[in-house]
Formats: sequence, C-alpha cells, structure tokens
Amino acid sequence: MTNAAKSGTFKIGGELEVVRLGFGAMRVTGPGIWGDPTDPIEARRTLNRIPELGINFIDTADSYGPSVSEELIRETLHPYEGLVIATKGGLVRPGPEIWNPFGRPDYLIQEAHLSRRRLGVKRIDLWQLHRIDANVPRGEQFAAIKSLIDDGVIRFAGLSEVSVAEIEAARAVFPVATVQNRYNLADRTSEAVLDYCTKNGIGFIPWFPLAAGSLAKPGTVLDAIAKKHHAAPSQIALAWVLKRSPVILPIPGTAKVAHLEENVAAADIVLSDEEFATLDKAARK
Ligand SMILES: NC(=O)c1ccc[n+]([C@@H]2O[C@H](COP(=O)([O-])OP(=O)(O)OC[C@H]3O[C@@H](n4cnc5c(N)ncnc54)[C@H](OP(=O)(O)O)[C@@H]3O)[C@@H](O)[C@H]2O)c1
Repeated sequence: MTNAAKSGTFKIGGELEVVRLGFGAMRVTGPGIWGDPTDPIEARRTLNRIPELGINFIDTADSYGPSVSEELIRETLHPYEGLVIATKGGLVRPGPEIWNPFGRPDYLIQEAHLSRRRLGVKRIDLWQLHRIDANVPRGEQFAAIKSLIDDGVIRFAGLSEVSVAEIEAARAVFPVATVQNRYNLADRTSEAVLDYCTKNGIGFIPWFPLAAGSLAKPGTVLDAIAKKHHAAPSQIALAWVLKRSPVILPIPGTAKVAHLEENVAAADIVLSDEEFATLDKAARK
C-alpha cells in the first residue's frame, strides 16, 4: 500500500523526526488563499486522509486564509498524535492574493502566540519567518525568534525565501532548523541555498515542488520517464526532488483527496542515477 514513509525520514534540528514527503496546507483555503475553501467537505476529507497515508509533516501559516488553514488543521487533526505541524508568521493579508511582509518584533511574537492558540498546542513544533521584512532591521526579527524559542512558544525555527548570507546571519542569533525556498525541477534559483542546507543538516522545504515547467508537456524527457514508471509527470518531479538531497522535505499542496493520494504515491518511485541526471540536464537547459 502507498505510504509516504517510503520517502524516508529527516530529523528537524537533529531531533524531531518527520517523514520526508509532507503536506502543504495552503490550498485548503478559498481562491487567492483567502477565506474558506471552495469545497470545505473535500478540504476536510483531504486533511483527514493525511495520517492514513503515512504523512506526519504538515506545513501551514497564519496568513493562509488568514487563519483558515490553521483552524481547519486543528478541527480535523487535533490532538495530532505523531503529527508535526509547522507554521509561519511575518506576512499580513489585506486581501486575496496580497502578501505583505511585516516583521516588527512585537507582531512576530503576537502571531506565534496566536498560531499556538489556533493550532491548540503548548509549543509550536516548527515556526518559520515567512519573509524577512526589508523595512525592519533583520537582527530585530531574529531576536524575536530567539525569544520565542527561549520562552518555549516554539521548539524549532526556520526561515523562508532567504539567501545563504541571510541564513548565516540568522544562525548567529538562533539555530536555523529549516529553510523554505521555492525549488523544483524547473526552478533551480535556490541551488546554492540547498547545497548549504545539505552541508549543514538544515531541512530544506521546497515550496511549489510539483512545477515541472515546460518539461511537463507531452513528448519531453520527463514524459518519457513518467511513462516508463507508469507515473504522472508531477510524481516524477516529486521523486526527483526527493532524490536530490536527503535534507529535502517536499510539501505538495492540494485540497483534493485524489491529488493527495497521487502525490503520496511518488514515494514509491525510485529514479535511477541515470534518470536523475537526464532530468537534471534537461531541466537546466
Ligand atoms: N514559503 C512560502 O513563501 C510559500 C509560498 C507558497 C507555498 N508555500 C507552501 O508550499 C506548499 C506547496 O506550494 P504550492 O501549493 O504553491 O505548490 P504545489 O504543491 O507544487 O502545487 C499545488 C497546485 O497543484 C495542484 N495539484 C496538487 N497535486 C496535484 C496533482 N496530483 N495533480 C494535479 N494537480 C495537483 C493543486 O491544486 P488542487 O487543489 O486542485 O489539487 C495546486 O493548485 C503550500 O501548500 C504551502 O504550504 C510556501
């Protein structure tokens, strides 16, 4: 039977073990990641299916909805036996599709407390700064994160959309357990950050992991490898990121049970070194 556990495990912060193939809970909201999901029954069914498929790592954020995603996770999955819930703060949402960084230390601390309340946990397993706010000294944002760890509000902390220099600056203030940057077979902008994370045992959470760009079209090398494995191109794209580095924790997102099941089945696919290299070469062109 399909089980995400086949993707292997990773220890966040060297301690908190998660199954590598996780779930991104941004899509269980309305259009523009705003308000309630279009199909609330299917969104709830999707969340309920997560533990049954062996996934135990879920990524969300205060800004998804806002609040909607965290509230649905609590409603469907609390008390989270064996599940690790990661959330984020640091973006404000004045409307659908609008995401504005806001990194005032008081606000970050308030949002972590609110996430903890909405999720119904004593301590958040992993809290990530959604964006470094360019209008606030980054040291102040990092100090707020350190205070959240020191005060027991959060256990581990991560960053999102950052450079190697920013990770290093943050590590001088608090232990950076994870980094969440956009990364997939077709978008390799964060290659240097991924290499840094691999070298330093930092979890790398690639968002938008399913995108395979022009390679997903019929007749490409991805299409050929997908046919060979009797798989969808998106499953091969997931299998590829899983093979790329042992610190990668992909979090494909959906509000549909059928898509969730299809994504988890990517854990069954083992690409050969040759297939991996062929895809790598084709995607870099
Ligand atoms: N740190 C950041 O700044 C940031 C930014 C964006 C996202 N994220 C996180 O990353 C997660 C993943 O990102 P993402 O949702 O943008 O990208 P993604 O997981 O690569 O793609 C999700 C999209 O693909 C569709 N989909 C999912 N599985 C599918 C399947 N098997 N077949 C066909 N379509 C499928 C989904 O629609 P359906 O609902 O119709 O399946 C959705 O539109 C989010 O949930 C969130 O937790 C983080």
